[in-house]
Amino acid sequence: MIQKSTIDVVFETARLEEVIGDFVQLKKSGSNFKGLSPFTDERTPSFMVSPVKQIWKDFSSGKGGNVVAFLMEHEHFSYPEAIRYLAKKYNIEIEETEQNDAQKAAASARESMYLVSSFALGFFQDSMWETTQGKAIGLSYFRERGFTDETIKQFQLGYSPDEWSALTDAALKSGYKIDFLEKTGLTIVKEERQFDRFKGRVMFPIHSMSGRVLGFGGRILTQDKKAAKYMNSPESDIYNKSKVLYGLYQAKKTIAKEDNCFLVEGYTDVIQLHQRGITNVVSSSGTALTPEQVRLIRRLTTNITVLFDGDAAGLRASLRGVDLILEAGMNVRVCTFPAGEDPDSFARGHSMEEVANFLSDQSKDFIQFKAALLVDEAEKDPIKKAETIREMVQSIAKIPDQIKQEVYVRSCAALMDISEEVLFATLAQVTQKKDSRPNQMVADRPMSVVPEEKQLPRVSSRFELEKNIIKILLIHGHEEVVFEEPILKTDDKTGDLKMVTSKMKARVFEKIYLDLQQDEIDFSTTAFKALYPKILLALNEQGVIKMDTFMASLPPELAAQASDLLLQDEQYALHDWERKNIYVRNKSTALPNWVREVILRFRCQLIDEKVSELQTKTEEDHEAHHAGLLEEIVDYHKLKIMLSNRLNRVI
Ligand code: CTP
Ligand code: MN
Repeated sequence: MIQKSTIDVVFETARLEEVIGDFVQLKKSGSNFKGLSPFTDERTPSFMVSPVKQIWKDFSSGKGGNVVAFLMEHEHFSYPEAIRYLAKKYNIEIEETEQNDAQKAAASARESMYLVSSFALGFFQDSMWETTQGKAIGLSYFRERGFTDETIKQFQLGYSPDEWSALTDAALKSGYKIDFLEKTGLTIVKEERQFDRFKGRVMFPIHSMSGRVLGFGGRILTQDKKAAKYMNSPESDIYNKSKVLYGLYQAKKTIAKEDNCFLVEGYTDVIQLHQRGITNVVSSSGTALTPEQVRLIRRLTTNITVLFDGDAAGLRASLRGVDLILEAGMNVRVCTFPAGEDPDSFARGHSMEEVANFLSDQSKDFIQFKAALLVDEAEKDPIKKAETIREMVQSIAKIPDQIKQEVYVRSCAALMDISEEVLFATLAQVTQKKDSRPNQMVADRPMSVVPEEKQLPRVSSRFELEKNIIKILLIHGHEEVVFEEPILKTDDKTGDLKMVTSKMKARVFEKIYLDLQQDEIDFSTTAFKALYPKILLALNEQGVIKMDTFMASLPPELAAQASDLLLQDEQYALHDWERKNIYVRNKSTALPNWVREVILRFRCQLIDEKVSELQTKTEEDHEAHHAGLLEEIVDYHKLKIMLSNRLNRVI
């Protein structure tokens, strides 16, 4: 775990505009920066960064938040990954929380394994680009396969010299320990002897989602029938093949942008498609797809298109992988290549446009695909047909979403020429049998950093009022202004009660706090309820809200909400960027009026709510408290008129 103190230093040091500037071209605009949204393909800039508040907002996608939220959205980092990234960028030393000796040893062992892997990466690349053997054998192999130098560099491909211990010797000489060379599988240790696992192979480094090298795949260059075509790093503390997808690091951005992920079988398929401009593509590297891998993809999109090689062998087995994706609640399409072709050869032989067209034309929804595949063989044989239908229903049963299930049942019925009733009955049978459908994947669906629009409460006047109060507190909470307040006073001479206007100097947050407390008003929106005490505390302790540190102290969801509020007005400014400061008010009178107005409206709102609550009560029980309730309603009504009168004076 990273220590809180490190996280604080990271937030204090990181400049949002610098961090975002590495990914988005920003232009100064008033006190803000603006740029093109990195999350959509827009032409006019609607992406805003506020250096003062250290928050950003993308008006075209609705996303927003602080510096960490940006990295989580844009780079798809986890929270600790984002902190580590920032620490590295700003040369901040990361302090980990107290670990016991075993944890420390494990962490440092893993770190050493990462380091030696990173050394190997450089070594393989140098061996290929800088040595005669590497150029003649490794580099020319890749070039012959049609990879450009740019592609080779992008995927950090390399060459492991055809010597027994070239890498091992170089690593030992550079001070790396044999222990970690062995643990990562780069070196095989047999008694006294040590040799390179990947001797004489071309190297495909396998990256984590955030770009660290975890392991390697090495392809043989000779026609040796006995040796395996690909040799891969063994499982280790840093490389767990069921949790890694080849190419994900290079593909993640386009996967999110295109909202679709192509899944292929091999390393070369990934690279060749990428070079053709289809960059949202990953591979499970020859192993069957695992739930963990599906989960990795689901952080980016819920749509997967599986690309199958032209040979039909193994197709049925591969369909099991499809079921796994369905279980995760994702949408699956399937695309097969012409006989004898795989994505690699097809991409090599066709233009980008042809490949893109092929993929969009040939991709079929899995149900159509499965039907087409099975229908041929089932056509003449009724028993086979029944079996086929059952198989399709079994796939449909994997889908967690019932509405989707129903849609599939209907289209399956049409395709297979069978009544929907029969299919629904079969479905019911199948789902009953396996009541224990694995649902854990749905349960631990990652929480998105920024709440989606639909998760926000419906726009109600109550919600709007609460929002306004929070907004006032955030922006003007610390300001001291004069509030005019009508109060009742006894006349010194006559002793009569009379209404006078008192002037009270107070800070905005104190006034709001006192007024709301007096009426025992509570926020009804969860986010505001959580923000309110935090804002008061900050104002009370520091006198003013230092926006950047305040934002940094909030959990990502709350920070997103708060930045939404703050940047809302600026959205209008966006429409007319050049005209700045449209919102200048005469602060000395406008602010206290605004505060009073919002509080009064809030009170009116609450009275309305109270009255309608009472009214339903009177409808429910006629006799008993009827009279009392009506009286109460009338009282509230009077109160409302009084408040409304005051409101009129404010406005
Ligand atoms: N694979 C493996 N070990 C093997 C064979 C295959 O790990 N002995 C994995 C590799 O990740 C490979 C993928 O399975 O990329 C697909 O295998 P295959 O289609 O045989 O290889 P290609 O990627 O097509 O490689 P090439 O085009 O170089 O033959
Ligand atoms: Mn191939």
